[in-house]
Amino acid sequence: MALPFARPLSLAPDFALSSIGQDDIDGVISCHHQAFNSPGERFWWSPDLDAMRAFQRASLEKNLKSGEKRYFKITHTPSGELAAFASWVPPKRFDGLGLRPVVGTDTNNEGARAVAAVEEIGLYVDSSAHSTLQSNKVSGEADMEEYIRQIVSRLPDGASKEGLAEAVRFELRIHNRYGAEEMLNLAVLCTSPRYERRGLAKAIIEPVLEIAQANGMPVWVYSSPVGKGFYEKLGFVVIEAYDLDLSNANRGLEGVHRVTAMQWNPKPSIPHRWT
Ligand SMILES: CC(C)(COP(=O)(O)OP(=O)(O)OC[C@H]1O[C@@H](n2cnc3c(N)ncnc32)[C@H](O)[C@@H]1OP(=O)(O)O)[C@@H](O)C(=O)NCCC(=O)NCCS
Repeated sequence: MALPFARPLSLAPDFALSSIGQDDIDGVISCHHQAFNSPGERFWWSPDLDAMRAFQRASLEKNLKSGEKRYFKITHTPSGELAAFASWVPPKRFDGLGLRPVVGTDTNNEGARAVAAVEEIGLYVDSSAHSTLQSNKVSGEADMEEYIRQIVSRLPDGASKEGLAEAVRFELRIHNRYGAEEMLNLAVLCTSPRYERRGLAKAIIEPVLEIAQANGMPVWVYSSPVGKGFYEKLGFVVIEAYDLDLSNANRGLEGVHRVTAMQWNPKPSIPHRWT
């Protein structure tokens, strides 16, 4: 799929930016496992990493086919390694990223878009979990519990259903409170540790922020503790934070993992003054 923007000038010459396809799935999972490697990030994961990889692979294959998200990658050209990637969930009826906008009475597709937008674990959770809900917003408590039930029923053996359910519950409530399904959602962003601090994350999301600016579209993200400072540098502001109690995952973990809901707003255009 063609990129909806030009190659960022800031990207160093030995890196290439392109869309992600089915052949990239192993690279995506490997990059993600390396970047999200703290107990707080993985609190709900199965300790069986092969089972996690198989689960992630199946979900990614499906999400790539469904076309509800837009995935971009940066490859280190000399080694061929996938160094960073991002996944975006546009609001329905937004075609700025080259995905099919939702039109008319296509309620299944609307539902799938809405659900994809609330996936804090956006990479993994199968968007079709929502298809039976037949609505464009998971808003009521009953909808929410049904949605969560469907998501956790698909987890691999050993994953913490309680832990993931708590995380999704928090996120859905915040999502509904701020109308985040109407914004462009950054579902996942990560850079492999060996390529950090070389401007890759910035290069992969700045062109999309420019598209958001041109369309007057706010951008929404649930940030990890590590990501917060990075997003602030790009102009995101904190909307609300919540602490996931790690002991709820029944893994012997203690403490909390803080998730910060953040928003980036397009700058108002300056009216031209004729003098
Ligand atoms: C956060 C993360 C995506 C940053 O990736 P990166 O490729 O190293 O970031 P960049 O090199 O593009 O950094 C861009 C700018 O942000 C700054 N920055 C990067 N990480 C930062 C951090 N953790 N805190 C504060 N500033 C940060 C850089 O110094 C740079 O500043 P500059 O433009 O003034 O030079 C990466 O560390 C990561 O994947 N972490 C683990 C997964 C994660 O938490 N993802 C994001 C939250 S969902």
